[in-house]
Amino acid sequence: MSCVLGIETTCDETACAVVADRRIVRSNVIRTQIDLHQKYGGVVPEIAARAHIEWLNDIVAEAMNRAAVSPEDISGIAVANCPGLVGCLLVGVSAAKALAFAWDKPLIGVNHVHAHLYAGCLIPPADATIASASVAASPPPLPALGLVISGGHTSLYEIKTFSSLRRLGSTIDDAVGEAFDKVSAILQLGYPGGPLVEKLARGGCADAVNFPLSLLGRQSLDFSFSGLKTAVLYHVNGERGTQRTSADLSAQQRADTAAAFERTVSEILEIKVRRAMETITAKSLIVGGGVSANELIRGRLRQLADAAGIPLYLPAMEYCTDNAAMIAGLGAELLEQGYQADLDLSAIATA
Ligand code: KG4
Ligand code: ZN
Repeated sequence: MSCVLGIETTCDETACAVVADRRIVRSNVIRTQIDLHQKYGGVVPEIAARAHIEWLNDIVAEAMNRAAVSPEDISGIAVANCPGLVGCLLVGVSAAKALAFAWDKPLIGVNHVHAHLYAGCLIPPADATIASASVAASPPPLPALGLVISGGHTSLYEIKTFSSLRRLGSTIDDAVGEAFDKVSAILQLGYPGGPLVEKLARGGCADAVNFPLSLLGRQSLDFSFSGLKTAVLYHVNGERGTQRTSADLSAQQRADTAAAFERTVSEILEIKVRRAMETITAKSLIVGGGVSANELIRGRLRQLADAAGIPLYLPAMEYCTDNAAMIAGLGAELLEQGYQADLDLSAIATA
């Protein structure tokens, strides 16, 4: 059994994982920094990088222990080296280089956004022995259509192989997760906003408010969410000059707003995925990123894939948001394809 160690420090999660045979998660350790950043309403890069430095050694040791492996069992060290906060990336990349050098193992640089798509291919430990009956038991048939919906990215890809992804479209302003976070702030729910907006939306009527569907051109595969966010802001706070806030709305009005926003987002995603399916030949649909944890969106994408007659690969809940198992898994896949980085691997902030 070949095991790859993965390290993830692109933003505010310090994470390390061990994945066997490219898909079977042996350990997946994540320490979130939400408590450190909550009072600032968002991630403070300096604080995030410092926490990665303080925590990473322990997290790596824990991932190795939980997987019950020693350095001899590891066939490569994968690290997310782009995109992300550069100070944070540097911590993970430096640690991965040190381990690769000390243990004399290949180093693999992994694109964090591409890894979100690979998350749908991972088999959680509990399912590892019974997975033969499920879709996840076999790797996704390629070429696939990939949709990344995270806090930093919203993009569609044609995936010919996991080392050859062609971006078909992406957001021209806010990412979809960012829109969830901003709507959460408008509704005074807290951070990170996605799960809180989803919870509030459960008690709301999705048709109570009609927010605009921003689709850009008729053929466009790009996304735009800033208009929707502004529409929610005006709906809650009133037009410019009024003093209203979400505290002035009834509990039902707040829930209706969250539900209508969530419905609008899912309709936009559905329309764009359908357009992309008409543009390329896809044998499967692969979705990843924090927003893919959203039940309404998962359900809509499931219906879409069923109607198109192709399998849908959605990550298990624990692999939707940032984690290192997806980095280890994609790293193992790339290593298998012959990709290996030198010890001068760079940390790159942009995709
Ligand atoms: O993929 P991720 O962990 O980080 C990035 O790479 O950006 O995504 C985080 C985003 C946040 O914006 C968060 O609000 C959103 O994913 N998110 C959700 C849900 N869970 C997390 N959005 C909607 N519904 C959820 N259940
Ligand atoms: Zn991410």
